[in-house]
Amino acid sequence: MKIAVIGSGYVGLVAATCFAETGNHVICVDIDEQKIENLKKGIIPIYEPGLEPMIQKNVEDRRLFFTTNLPEAVAESLVLFIAVGTPSGEDGSADLQYVLAVARSIGLCMDSYKIIVDKSTVPVGTAEKVQAAIAQALQERGVDIEFDVVSNPEFLKEGAAIDDFMKPDRVVIGAENVRTLEIMKELYSPFMMRQSRIITMDVRSAEMTKYAANAMLATRISFMNEIANLCDLVGADVSSVREGIGSDSRIGHSFLYPGVGYGGSCFPKDVKAIMRTAREHGMKLQVLDAVEEVNKRQKEVLVDKVLNHYNTSAVAGALKGRHFAVWGLSFKANTDDMRESSSIVIIRELLRLGATICAYDPEAMDEARKIFGDAIHYAAGQYETLENADGLLIITEWNEFRRPDFERIKQSLKEPFIADGRNLYSPEKMQQMGFTYRCIGRDRTPSGK
Ligand code: UDX
Repeated sequence: MKIAVIGSGYVGLVAATCFAETGNHVICVDIDEQKIENLKKGIIPIYEPGLEPMIQKNVEDRRLFFTTNLPEAVAESLVLFIAVGTPSGEDGSADLQYVLAVARSIGLCMDSYKIIVDKSTVPVGTAEKVQAAIAQALQERGVDIEFDVVSNPEFLKEGAAIDDFMKPDRVVIGAENVRTLEIMKELYSPFMMRQSRIITMDVRSAEMTKYAANAMLATRISFMNEIANLCDLVGADVSSVREGIGSDSRIGHSFLYPGVGYGGSCFPKDVKAIMRTAREHGMKLQVLDAVEEVNKRQKEVLVDKVLNHYNTSAVAGALKGRHFAVWGLSFKANTDDMRESSSIVIIRELLRLGATICAYDPEAMDEARKIFGDAIHYAAGQYETLENADGLLIITEWNEFRRPDFERIKQSLKEPFIADGRNLYSPEKMQQMGFTYRCIGRDRTPSGK
């Protein structure tokens, strides 16, 4: 099938590459010339395991093409995926200007039947706006060409994007007629594993599904973070509690890991956007209000544990003269993405309290420099951060942090103090090794200290 994917961000690039991988002819379009030139050479703008070689292979095999020429891509393709960004506007609503600009551009150049697919995360009712923008452009040209608009939300996770796309739990397709549904089903049939399925529905429900899914996952995380904080107060172990509840098949094991709060390009933005949609309809989403509030607070928990360790409160200068090592800056492992990362809140707060910081992340150092500049020190490796440090803070769960050389850590730190925001180690073993180890929901001291 001939496909165009408009927008070469996370979703667009992964979708284009995976569709090419299954034999389709895919043209990926972006207005950023430099980005397209790099992509043609196989240089990709993001860190995503497995993506670069897959792009290179499909470019070499002449199934995947990159261009800035939208009219040419539209002319050659039957299915046009819109995968451009929908950043949060000031009021929390999704900013649709890029989506609608693409829709208009399509309408201004299409000359035969097209299926236009909304792949970007867009609020309920956007497909109708896309439909209207294309119709308006066609009318201005004085032509009457048939087209259909489909909603096909993407559920991929950064760091596991290829796997999520190639082996989806489900594919949601919102379409208003059988013809488009059949074409979309054909396009996705190579990705259907035994457990996966295509769920078809009307366009508005498909748009709503994406927001509801992300809001539900964010809710689970905030819920578990609150349970973890309570575990610390009552002397329970949240890991045991998690296993205990997760084995109930109605609850399940995934997305129950407490930590430093959720970040990334989706959850914070999508939770805000669905709340905004509700407000527009005169409704307040009370659960999500709390989910956001808890998440904001959770980003401060690790610093509270540090302050607690030194028996001091959060007044400016409280940590003056203290120097900390930080492991992990990206919002989660296997990505260089720092958008809404808890590390930003944690590090800024430590700086406000007067501490100095030396940080390391396996992939996000360049992104971190853009955010923190010279306000912190950067190390070439995880152990290099430890020199002269009073303690170590772990913010991201990278695999290389999971089984470190504890002796080396102990010898390098001025005091064997670790505040772990991702529960990477066993509190018992850490205690045996002589560490003062603070983590999330497993501190086991009824006072919460
Ligand atoms: C998310 C959704 O999972 C995906 O379906 C959607 O398409 C885009 O948004 P992503 O943002 O890549 O994907 O990351 P995800 O793995 O979902 O993690 C989001 C945040 O939640 C991270 O900050 C992560 O550390 C945190 N998290 C996740 C937890 O704190 N605990 C968990 O149990 C799971």
